Amino acid sequence: MTESQPWWRSAVVYQVYPRSFADSDGDGIGDLRGLIGRLDHLERLGVDVLWLSPVYPSPQDDNGYDISDYRDVDPVFGTLADLDELIEAVHARGMRLMLDVVVNHTSDEHPWFADSRASRESVKRDWYWWRPPRPGHVGGEPGAEPTDWHGFFSGPVWEWDEASGEYYLHLFSAKQPDLNWENPQVRAAVQEMLRWWADRGVDGFRLDVINLISKAVRPDGTLPDGVDSPALAGTGLADGSAHYTNGPRLEEFLGELHREVFAAPTARGDVLVTVGEMPGVTLPLARSITDPGTPQLDMVFTFEHVSLDHGPGGKWDPRPLTLPALKANLAAWQTGLGDGWNALYWNNHDQPRIVSRWGDDSPEHRVASAKTLGTVLHLMRGTPFVYQGEELGLTNVSWTGIEDYRDLETLNHYRQAVRAGADPADVLAAVSAMGRDNARTPMPWSDAPHGGFTAGTPWLPANPAYPELNAAVAWADPRSVLHHYRRLIELRHTQPVVVDGDFELLLPDHEQLMVYRRTLGTQVLTVVANMSSAPASLDRTDLGITNGQVLLATHPPAPDDAGDVLLRPWESRVVLSTSALTP
Ligand code: NOJ
Repeated sequence: MTESQPWWRSAVVYQVYPRSFADSDGDGIGDLRGLIGRLDHLERLGVDVLWLSPVYPSPQDDNGYDISDYRDVDPVFGTLADLDELIEAVHARGMRLMLDVVVNHTSDEHPWFADSRASRESVKRDWYWWRPPRPGHVGGEPGAEPTDWHGFFSGPVWEWDEASGEYYLHLFSAKQPDLNWENPQVRAAVQEMLRWWADRGVDGFRLDVINLISKAVRPDGTLPDGVDSPALAGTGLADGSAHYTNGPRLEEFLGELHREVFAAPTARGDVLVTVGEMPGVTLPLARSITDPGTPQLDMVFTFEHVSLDHGPGGKWDPRPLTLPALKANLAAWQTGLGDGWNALYWNNHDQPRIVSRWGDDSPEHRVASAKTLGTVLHLMRGTPFVYQGEELGLTNVSWTGIEDYRDLETLNHYRQAVRAGADPADVLAAVSAMGRDNARTPMPWSDAPHGGFTAGTPWLPANPAYPELNAAVAWADPRSVLHHYRRLIELRHTQPVVVDGDFELLLPDHEQLMVYRRTLGTQVLTVVANMSSAPASLDRTDLGITNGQVLLATHPPAPDDAGDVLLRPWESRVVLSTSALTP
């Protein structure tokens, strides 16, 4: 890392979903003391930053992404003192802590919303999006909603409030009303809250759905209707995303947040790190947002690559992924961000497990495919994000009944789809492949009951593979996915070419191989990965890597020759070589 580069460019982030990480008190729900007790795992893995999903007081309608108090900790997770202790313990181990903040919406139980809904005259009425029924309609009746938008969690985005005689907007659940960022008091309150956390010692923020904060409101205060979409057939609702995604004032609001909060040093005198979650962000917009010349956020989470297996019906209509499409998308982001910076991820608490999704989770290929997926992600340009359990090669769960699921997105979708006439078995198949509970099963620590996650009954059943697939087993096996991830993280910390090298995609059309090159001065790092469950061959001389040192590989060396190389299913190799500098 050069002097002028911020620390997070060579960092690796690890996401903890606290509800499912480690339970210290036997109530079946993970908590902060449980997490503090497991920091060894993170330190040994070598990660630099811990991103903590929300632990604020919350009715837990959406597992904490519905916040009712921004400045405290929910008793289910512990106390503010526990959080202070966590911050200190993380710092003592040379790591940093990033908080997840949800400021597109609050909980409907947040005092701001309670004030806002109290009456049309409330001073906080305008802190949220209140609108009268559609002209000519009676409030509360179907079709009277101010717009026809479909919500992320199914159903309309408007909730009728009988007492005050207006609707309020909620892009997510009815318990997650959207804040009105047009109101400067809202922005000032958010800024003050973020500064409060920075002063308390946190090192950065992950900003939930932050590209939805600017809505395309017309001068007369109305919002436009959406457009028809095949994914919404039979719901009577339309796609309004063009009117709330990447809205007209987004960059202005983010620039203001940077000026007012992110530009200041942390309590420890460091720079803060920020990453914005942005469904629907475009590459040019991400470039502008992450360009240090016009400071807004350091990184954004794109959804483009994780949407490549969505069919016309969206996420619940999955299709097989084609490797050339994935490579083209990743390469576009690798080379297209200019002076901006990528956030690299396969997994988080909303995505199915990558080894089951785009790897091969059969006993024969699980380990190699998890390692190879990790390899191709971690050695690209950007900051890699590891989601708890990914470092173990944890798989999806294939539950057979809807009653096994807890996630409200999944449950609402199931109800809506079945009501619209879909075959419940088909809906369940999609839920099992794409549902968010796949990512949320308890972290398996050992072969103790429930994977050692809790001494009680876990809020969500453990992945039944836990007796063999757990952290203790993985630490004891030098060939595990876990040790491979540790080595990948070490490579980022020790090889400047991993951090700063230019990126070039090779063999873009190859259906099985992902091959790319990173170059920094005379250093050339070549990543060769067979992303399929069948052998694949390539001509090594074509790649110009007849010499070079293998820094990391999924398989023990095979008797290669200097020409054709046969890569075994899901085999990958990382080769460092030196090139003559072109004049
Ligand atoms: C994105 C979060 O990652 C997801 O878990 C949540 O349900 C929505 N935003 C709403 O906050």
